[in-house]
Amino acid sequence: STSGPLKVMISGAPASGKGTQCELIVKKFGLVHISTGDLLRAEVSAETEIGNKAKEFMNAGRLVPDEIVTAMVTARLSLEDAKEKGWLLDGYPRSSAQAESLEKLNVRPDIYVVLDVPDEILIDRCVGRRLDPETGKIYHVKNFPPETEEMKARLITRPDDTEEKVKARLDIYKKNAEAILSTYSNIMVKIDGNRSKEVVFKEIDSLLSQVHRDEVKLVKSV
Ligand code: AP5
Repeated sequence: STSGPLKVMISGAPASGKGTQCELIVKKFGLVHISTGDLLRAEVSAETEIGNKAKEFMNAGRLVPDEIVTAMVTARLSLEDAKEKGWLLDGYPRSSAQAESLEKLNVRPDIYVVLDVPDEILIDRCVGRRLDPETGKIYHVKNFPPETEEMKARLITRPDDTEEKVKARLDIYKKNAEAILSTYSNIMVKIDGNRSKEVVFKEIDSLLSQVHRDEVKLVKSV
């Protein structure tokens, strides 16, 4: 049933490593990375109407209303590059209503990857996370410190990365995960995300390459 460019969804709790793996996936497979968290943070820092609405929800660790996020994602998915190169959807859908919106539009991934990481590790990853506002790269004070002092000086901390807010985000994730999984259970692959990022990527790489090969075979057999 799959044809055309690769379509991937990546999911997992806050700080399970979605953004980190997406950097590696994009480098290898050239997919268009659509991260609702990144898109929303860009709207917030540009102080747009969407950003101003989203800000209070994000800073509290709560979900931004479905209609705002869904409009943003469907607009991005309909652009030519996503159709041509394929896409990597990160952080969406996050509620059953969001999953339903995609189903209605006939937007389905080839594979649904879930990163599995124990709760106590997630808190430490969030609290230690730092972002480079210039390159968008993700660092961690212990696990992935920046290469130079100059970079270190410009790193920022996300306002929703305090222990208290991470717990709230994790709670919301758990409440919604089940409902979304039921939509994608036949294409879902769970991956142990509590290993080095290289090892985790190796597993994702081989999964996506497999989907890719199956698609090529399909196209050739037509
Ligand atoms: P979003 O930005 O999507 O946040 P999230 O799901 O909480 O995920 P994170 O970005 O926190 O983590 P990640 O899994 O990408 O981990 P990372 O690779 O950075 O959403 C933020 C907010 O926006 C939401 O709370 C909500 O308000 C709103 N929002 C977004 N989408 C929405 C939607 N669809 N509907 C409604 N609202 C929405 O890694 C984390 C840390 O761990 C880093 O420091 C990294 O260096 C480190 N690390 C990564 N991998 C490893 C490894 N293998 N070993 C050791 N350390 C690692």
